[in-house]
Amino acid sequence: MRILITGRNGQVGDALTQTLRGIGEIIAVDRSQLDLTNPDAVRTAIRELQPAIVINAAAYTAVDAAEADQAMAFRINADAPRVLAEETERLGATLIHYSTDYVFDGSKDGAWLEDDAPAPLSVYGRSKLAGEQAIADVGGAHLILRTSWVYGLRGKNFLLTMLKLAETRDALSIVDDQIGAPTWRMTIAEATASIIRDAGEPAQLAALSGIYHLCADGYTSWFGFAQAIFADASVANKPRLQPITTADYPTPAQRPKNSIMNTDKFRRTFGDLPAWNDALAACLQLRTTH
Ligand SMILES: NC(=O)c1ccc[n+]([C@@H]2O[C@H](COP(=O)([O-])OP(=O)(O)OC[C@H]3O[C@@H](n4cnc5c(N)ncnc54)[C@H](OP(=O)(O)O)[C@@H]3O)[C@@H](O)[C@H]2O)c1
Repeated sequence: MRILITGRNGQVGDALTQTLRGIGEIIAVDRSQLDLTNPDAVRTAIRELQPAIVINAAAYTAVDAAEADQAMAFRINADAPRVLAEETERLGATLIHYSTDYVFDGSKDGAWLEDDAPAPLSVYGRSKLAGEQAIADVGGAHLILRTSWVYGLRGKNFLLTMLKLAETRDALSIVDDQIGAPTWRMTIAEATASIIRDAGEPAQLAALSGIYHLCADGYTSWFGFAQAIFADASVANKPRLQPITTADYPTPAQRPKNSIMNTDKFRRTFGDLPAWNDALAACLQLRTTH
């Protein structure tokens, strides 16, 4: 079973490239090998490689920069997924694509369900929603896995930002009025691997087409996430943490207040997901052994 992974140098793309080894013939490409802003190159690559599964881990993920770079965000997050969907459909293959909690406006009292109405607050959120809709419009076999607050020991993320800031700062002010589920990139990769492994045949995957919420169990605020990071025994620098509000920390892009996603559909279909703080401990443990 040939599996094509885009965005191999990203947090999730790299985790997938490690985790899927042994499941199939993995062809993982980075931006220099397959630029998603070039639809002809994407079409040619998929027609030549003829994968059974395409996993799109590439995305325009700079949430604040997207506010001033709308055209590029839509090219990568909406136009490219449409081309990937058209080409996988043409082959009878399955597209696995990642999306985001930022498709929601955060106003719900309770966890977001897959079929709750999306209403993104940012260009990034709108571009990712347009990607979801493009894939569904094409109508081929697809799994859209919405995740949230992705972190790990690689790339740009909140965990690494906190650890870096703590090298030089005694105190940090962290937003406490946005809540969501921090999700370790390895959780996403392992869940994706088990989806593929358990399906056995790519045709089985096609029958499971749709949107699923894939994030860690439980929730916290960014402040709570920072507290958990610095409470870990393996983290030496422990700055004082001050909770602040979103209004105290203005950013170009507006973010949802409540990003918590209900994962019951994922669990019923594919199995359990770890608690966010257990996954964080496992991630930090890895840091001490590397
Ligand atoms: N990060 C989060 O907190 C978060 C939250 C919710 C959902 N998600 C979703 O989860 C998925 C994976 O995100 P991530 O955190 O792994 O993102 P990431 O670390 O930013 O990786 C994205 C990858 O996409 C590649 N890329 C960007 N433009 C490209 C292009 N034109 N052609 C080919 N590749 C291109 C980047 O390449 P370069 O390395 O060359 O820049 C990078 O390797 C995305 O769909 C994202 O929207 C992420």
